[in-house]
Amino acid sequence: MNSEHPAAAGGFPAARPRRLRTTPAMRRMVAEHRVHPADLILPVFVRDGISEPVPVSSMPGVVQHTRETLKKTAAEAVRAGVGAIMIYGVPKEEDKDAVGSCGTDPDGILQVALRDVRSEVGDDLVVMSDLCLDETTDHGHCGVLDADGRVDNDATLERYAQMACVQAEAGAHVLGPSGMMDGQIGHVRRALDEAGHLDVSMFAYTAKYSSAFYGPFREAVGSSLKGDRRTYQQDPANSRESLRELSLDLAEGADMVMVKPGLPYLDVLRDFADRVDVPLGAYHISGEYSMVEAAAQNGWIDRDAAMLETLTSFKRAGADLILTYWALEAAGKL
Ligand code: PBG
Repeated sequence: MNSEHPAAAGGFPAARPRRLRTTPAMRRMVAEHRVHPADLILPVFVRDGISEPVPVSSMPGVVQHTRETLKKTAAEAVRAGVGAIMIYGVPKEEDKDAVGSCGTDPDGILQVALRDVRSEVGDDLVVMSDLCLDETTDHGHCGVLDADGRVDNDATLERYAQMACVQAEAGAHVLGPSGMMDGQIGHVRRALDEAGHLDVSMFAYTAKYSSAFYGPFREAVGSSLKGDRRTYQQDPANSRESLRELSLDLAEGADMVMVKPGLPYLDVLRDFADRVDVPLGAYHISGEYSMVEAAAQNGWIDRDAAMLETLTSFKRAGADLILTYWALEAAGKL
């Protein structure tokens, strides 16, 4: 080494973190966080009354499935080693009503799809179902409305309890209560237990923010919503409030908890990771997905690199599980 080199003259800089970044093999060895296929949960949409899958225009690469293509996708998820599938039902427009009746009809699209998927995958894949009314109501809200048109918390809890039992009977391993009603975890837990569904677990949407990034999802489920969900979903300005939601959900019996959306709320995810002793999930939602896809289509970013960086960031922030529309594809690349 040249004697004028600073290192020869007394060890400056004393520490050289770059040594551990020298080769791909070195970087792989010292990586603190890894995404594993089993960490990934694939959200899927199944639509009643279609014979071919319908592309969701605002989510390139995502479709509304037919019953048949959903079954095939579930089988692919098993082969890819994906952790779970989260199913959303999209009923026919004419089947929607004020109380979301098709959500409790054993022949409603979500229940039929749950039976289809369970008959396809058995217990080889964790099968989750969305426990919410917004896909099935003609007003598009996540609950039933009172005489003044406001979302009625306690009347909604009754509907969730009925839905939970019907979904459990149809074969869901895990229910995802996503409606942000007060007391939903405890109320549903009691109903499940009373019906004998002791082994059916709940993945609580604990900190769910009222987000502009849900836009493309509303197309994916053919949402009828006019207005917004600000009286039940959380205000993006609040973080302490999420800790309160967390205490309540855990006390009420949540088996797993989630923060949603993902990237804009990594601080909340970190707060949760420092506190919980149950599996913690992050939901990389539709708008976050579509932003990357749109930028990549324009040639503005490297899509695959952005995908892996995004998923890794959730692990770094403390997530165990990641709900992502990339789950199948990402599992194949890991
Ligand atoms: C409500 C629900 C929503 C999402 C999942 N469950 C939308 C909403 O609250 O309006 C959004 C998921 C996404 O945007 O990817 N049942």
